Amino acid sequence: MRNAALVLFVCFLGGCDARIERFQPNEVFSLSLAKARSTPTELAGKDASRVAQELYGTPDEPLWPESPAAESVLADKQNLFRSSGPVSSEKDGTHLGLFREHCVTCHALEGSGAGPASVFQNPYPRDFRHGVFKWKSTERGQKPTRKDIRELLGKGIPGTAMPSFALLTPEDLDALVDYVVFLSTRGEVERRMTAAAIDELDYGESSPGGELTLNSRNETEGGEVVQEVLDRVHSDWADAGKLEVKVPPFAELAGEDLAASVDRGKAFFHGQIANCSGCHGPAGDGSMPTLDYDDWTKEYTTRIGLTPGDREAMKPFRDAGALRPRTIAPRTLQDGVFHGGGDSASLYRRITQGIAGTPMPAVEVVSEPNGKGLTVDEIWDLVRYVKQLSTLQ
Ligand code: HEC
Ligand code: HEC
Repeated sequence: MRNAALVLFVCFLGGCDARIERFQPNEVFSLSLAKARSTPTELAGKDASRVAQELYGTPDEPLWPESPAAESVLADKQNLFRSSGPVSSEKDGTHLGLFREHCVTCHALEGSGAGPASVFQNPYPRDFRHGVFKWKSTERGQKPTRKDIRELLGKGIPGTAMPSFALLTPEDLDALVDYVVFLSTRGEVERRMTAAAIDELDYGESSPGGELTLNSRNETEGGEVVQEVLDRVHSDWADAGKLEVKVPPFAELAGEDLAASVDRGKAFFHGQIANCSGCHGPAGDGSMPTLDYDDWTKEYTTRIGLTPGDREAMKPFRDAGALRPRTIAPRTLQDGVFHGGGDSASLYRRITQGIAGTPMPAVEVVSEPNGKGLTVDEIWDLVRYVKQLSTLQ
């Protein structure tokens, strides 16, 4: 029923069998860049969008460009075909148009996270185009693995609007994983090409022309810059599996041992090194006020010197499709709802990596107590404390 309602909603917007000729250019990024670099970026943005289309195709006919790393990033091009395009079924029952059927109302066609249903959500749906993901097994600055995204689709993100898709077939889920990788890669390449056009190819008031124009053929300087961007983003995805956080063994404790560990954890929670209470509140109940934003929002607000609450300053960004800026609150740790998993290993990763794209910082793992970081055992104390915070209620 719910899916039927979603499809109807999308049909209403675009017509279910409507063809969609192109991905929307990333105008919010172009505008932020114009402000950050004090230079016009319209031409750079336009050319980046054109080249992104040559490389990655359209919402109905996606392409996967060549790069040394590209083959190992995307498991199956048939999956791209099945996830893209309008919603339909083939005679044998194979579903097509999976992304438009299940994800587009929130994540939007181009994966900007500004779909029609996003407006009332907190946190907002992910903008895949930054290439930044929160809930993963890899190091903070790295891409998630395919397995991370696959598991996330199975579980959803508890405590957010992102539902579980466990009822889809394994084949459909695999296809959607590839499509997330596709949208993220396409969107990040578009962003990086726009920036490279300004920084390396002298785009500005006018287009540099000739050899320096962004293009999808390797022979010119503009083509080489594009290929470099492409190779960089594709190899970041290809390397993700090598950069998983190694989680040391966790010992289940009971009785006095557990109580002593929790006590030590509590001290670290309030202590100077981790200072978790500085954000999550002394009781871990998320009661501290915050004026902080996530990185997706900061890019078009505080990082370019604009005040998120200044409607006038925000207007051009909002007109270009940016969502209304909302602060990111350090959450309560008392309700037992963990967006990225409440198991020991997930909590270990959250604490030692922080949460990418958010203000939550990493605690450094040290081999001996040195006043700057915590040892593995001390981090496990902290994990035990966080776990029991949610069992107190
Ligand atoms: C009802 C809205 C909604 C729908 C439908 C939805 N999502 Fe999401 N999604 C969200 C929200 C909200 C977040 C951000 C949660 C957060 O920041 O913790 C998110 C985050 C994500 C992330 C990022 C996870 C990370 O580690 O950062 C991925 C990947 C994702 N969604 C994929 C999908 C796919 C694929 C579909 C369709 C099968 C889908 N979503 C459908 C709302 C939705
Ligand atoms: C600078 C502020 C800040 C500090 C310091 C901080 N956090 Fe966070 N924390 C956040 C924010 C913001 C979020 C919400 C992230 C989100 O949902 O996108 C968060 C989320 C969390 C989560 C939820 C993860 C999940 O899967 O839902 C846990 C657990 C957590 N923090 C534990 C800690 C611990 C333990 C410490 C100390 C080592 C700590 N935090 C220090 C800001 C902070």
